[in-house]
Amino acid sequence: MATLLYIESSPRKQRSHSIKVAEAFLASYRRAHPDDRIDRLDLWQESLPRFDGDMLNAKYSIMHGENPSAAERTAWTEVERLFKRFDAADKYVFSVPMWNFGLPYVLKHYIDVITQPGLAWSFDPASGSYSGLVHGKVTAIYASGGAYHAGSGAEAFDLQKPALENWLAFIGLTDITRIVVAGTLAGPAAAKATDDASAEAARVAAGF
Ligand SMILES: Cc1cc2nc3c(=O)[nH]c(=O)nc-3n(C[C@H](O)[C@H](O)[C@H](O)COP(=O)(O)O)c2cc1C
Repeated sequence: MATLLYIESSPRKQRSHSIKVAEAFLASYRRAHPDDRIDRLDLWQESLPRFDGDMLNAKYSIMHGENPSAAERTAWTEVERLFKRFDAADKYVFSVPMWNFGLPYVLKHYIDVITQPGLAWSFDPASGSYSGLVHGKVTAIYASGGAYHAGSGAEAFDLQKPALENWLAFIGLTDITRIVVAGTLAGPAAAKATDDASAEAARVAAGF
């Protein structure tokens, strides 16, 4: 039995295109893999900790090979708890709206909290290289009001997909399937784009 972690980062719920496509994915996944566990993480319902003070200092203590203080160790347990839930998955599905060409801040907040030395990544001083410590495969569902595909002339503005996918690769998740619903502010064409992306999501999910 595999565990799929679904991470939702749009607050628009019923009106969200990325969530609509993700729901098509999850319904198809459930049919194809009835015994798997689906863990749903709605980042707008999660109270993520401020990443400062003892929690931030703990990160630097770990990176510098120093012993974290008692207060740092206590603060770090919350990071470990959030990372443990993330790391427990075998497969990941992200639904991601574009906000100001990049990621919505709740998703960036989550990334900043869980991307930690000794948990998500490690550094080898001898070779000077970083390694990702997370295993699994990913489907990333992206929504954007405009369109940023190759040839659109707007490619350089798209910081959404590189931000997510470079981070995923850094922590070890390089097997990534991308599903895009673009032009969601374009009236009737948006409904068709969402339907097409939902059909693609259902197809991908059956073999995921
Ligand atoms: C705060 C905010 C910033 C946005 N910035 C952009 C943007 O830079 N480029 C773009 O194409 N659309 C932008 N949009 C539009 C969203 O990408 C679009 O509505 C998309 O469908 C959101 O995903 P959702 O429907 O899953 O919520 C923005 C929307 C919001 C709320």
